[in-house]
Amino acid sequence: MGNRSSEDAVARLMAEMTLAEKIGQLNLLAAGEGLTTGAATDTPLAKRLDAGEVGAIFGTKSLASAQALQERALAGSRLKIPLFFAEDVIHGHRTVFPLPLALAASWDMALIEATAGFAAAEAAAEGLHQVYAPMIDVTRDARWGRMAESPGEDPHLAGAIAAAMTRGLQGTDPAAPGRVAACLKHFVAYGAPLSGRDYDNASLAWEDLLEIYLPPFADGVAAGAASVMAAFNAVNKLPMHAHGPLIEGWLRGRTGFDGLVVSDYTGIRELSAHGLGAPATVVLRALAAGIDMDMVGEDYLTHLPALAETGLKAPEAGLTLSAERVRALIDRACARVLGFKAGLGLLDDPWRGLTGSPAAPDRAEGRKLARKAAARSAVLLKNDGLLPLSPDTRLALIGPLADDRANMLGTWSVSGRAEDVTPLLEAVGALAAPPPSHAAGCNLVEDDWLIERLNVHGTTVTRDPRSEANMLAEAVAAAKAADVVLVALGEAKEHAGESSSRLCPDLPAPQRRLLDALATTGTPLVVAVFAGRALALGGIEQQCGALLYAWHGGIAGPEGVADLVFGRAEPSGRLPVTLPAAPGQTPLSHAEDPTGRPWTGRFAKFRTGWLDLADDSQPYPFGFGLSYTEVDYGPPRLSATEARPGERISLSVTLTNTGARPAIETVQLYLSDPEARITRPARRLVAFCQVELAPGEEREVTFEIGAEMAQYPLAPSLEAAEWVRDPGRILLHVGPNSRDTLSETLTWLA
Ligand code: BGC
Repeated sequence: MGNRSSEDAVARLMAEMTLAEKIGQLNLLAAGEGLTTGAATDTPLAKRLDAGEVGAIFGTKSLASAQALQERALAGSRLKIPLFFAEDVIHGHRTVFPLPLALAASWDMALIEATAGFAAAEAAAEGLHQVYAPMIDVTRDARWGRMAESPGEDPHLAGAIAAAMTRGLQGTDPAAPGRVAACLKHFVAYGAPLSGRDYDNASLAWEDLLEIYLPPFADGVAAGAASVMAAFNAVNKLPMHAHGPLIEGWLRGRTGFDGLVVSDYTGIRELSAHGLGAPATVVLRALAAGIDMDMVGEDYLTHLPALAETGLKAPEAGLTLSAERVRALIDRACARVLGFKAGLGLLDDPWRGLTGSPAAPDRAEGRKLARKAAARSAVLLKNDGLLPLSPDTRLALIGPLADDRANMLGTWSVSGRAEDVTPLLEAVGALAAPPPSHAAGCNLVEDDWLIERLNVHGTTVTRDPRSEANMLAEAVAAAKAADVVLVALGEAKEHAGESSSRLCPDLPAPQRRLLDALATTGTPLVVAVFAGRALALGGIEQQCGALLYAWHGGIAGPEGVADLVFGRAEPSGRLPVTLPAAPGQTPLSHAEDPTGRPWTGRFAKFRTGWLDLADDSQPYPFGFGLSYTEVDYGPPRLSATEARPGERISLSVTLTNTGARPAIETVQLYLSDPEARITRPARRLVAFCQVELAPGEEREVTFEIGAEMAQYPLAPSLEAAEWVRDPGRILLHVGPNSRDTLSETLTWLA
């Protein structure tokens, strides 16, 4: 973010600042109650501000609150250094868009950029300068609750999303009106915890780190992301808040990142729990590793003043730093904080973003965008011709999420409001001629302890006091009286999210029993699943005529579903994660490494050695999704079958919309390398593009192929990593998903 004049401004301040003032800049605190409520003039936060001991605040809830805090901070700062304000704006601010995982299913980068742009404008209007997004942790484990926030299983798709979100949030300048600084998180491999347990450590091949988990960060940095947040987990034995080789080494050294690195919530002090030493020791480990700001823990504030006088000898932790070195590290971090503030325009004008900014954008416009995004995000997994429904269908709307508001928002929607959500019952009612009948059919979950847990951020799940038999009987009667049943099933909002791992990522048992009961009625079923992760859906396809994976779609999620159900929008979502058939199959991805058994050379043959899985249940492959029309793929054609390094080859394929409705088709290109120095993924996504096709329309799609697509890392250690490319054969696979592809062989000459 740096330019000459901001570097000068930072240098001028640094020359005048005391050690205590510098340490104060590294302290990042939560707003809590802020300053505007009650007579809270003497809160711990206010005292810190008076003493010039705060660099930034996150979680303010209004412009007025940010203004009051800024005024107090400026009064407490000898050199009038302003705060910056941050917040978790993960998939929209007040206007909540579909979950990031759902938006990923749109594969539509312009749409994703537009949602981020709208969120930035809403956030900026509330005095926020930075948002803790995009979350770009690739994940392949459906047990992990933060899959909801993630871009899914694939690094190429995740990288495109990291760039699109960064552009949407920052525009060309995060200091411009209506824009905010992006914060790529969580650096890194937070999406690969052992057994999908949140916060657990990741032990993985360096090759996997370099090829799966790091690339989205490189792409976000290339798009200009101004900040990064460290992850709670350890990577290969070293916790990320102390991971100098990855933060200072890879992130700053290899990608050219020159922004700000913040800790995650109390992530620095948690290094002690990871076994990295006493509080003072871990403070220096984090600072040396490149964590510039300390979120909430106040451990920099507590320990750095003394450490800057004495230095530290901690042989047990392999750490010896002179007082001079500690002061140099404090300077380094402080200069980065100030550089970040300069980049936001705050050193020129401490009230930048807090006074005279544009008002929030029109919420009605945001709602339209949210509705479009919801329709684009839902993935049609099965349709035997039942959909789209005619508006005069006698419809029964059944299920615990049929009339739900709060859960539709999805996790990490801290500024969203349930009252902004149009529930499915209302959304469908607005489009159907006879209003649908309605029955809840069952409770969302059955255990009281679970209901309590799901309500951790406010009540979204309540228990219907009636007996299950009673509720099922009501639902069955409604189903029998209808032409079609739309069944709304899935997860509660906080079923997925931080610290919400699930042992068994599938539909809760009462919902399965409801589906069994409805299936016996013979009335055709359309099942819509609202969830925050890749739920195992084995067997459901056999019970229904149509299956739509709708995720948690935000304020207009149900309206997007209604648009699809009645054919007012065309289904175009494609899975950004492989959907397991049974929970025990997770983790899964299209890019698994092949093995000697029972590898058959085709992704289509999923390993089926599961004794407790019905034969007809297969995972839904990554990239999969149906339309209301058929798109035919002609044979792929290569411009040459041999190429020298440096040459560009093109691969073309002709698509024809052979159906009667328009198509939004996502054409996907996969690559496999069957003769490499190490085992390479069976196939992996290397390119995609989206094309619209009118009924009957034919179009040629061309991908440019370069040798760099076939590069891969060899990494006996992080430091010794090299990217190589072997001469020889690669396979290119084109198709509508990662399974149903047509292949061509290309040979790279030596
Ligand atoms: C989460 C981060 C979030 C932070 C601040 C942490 O618990 O891991 O993603 O940005 O809290 O709310």
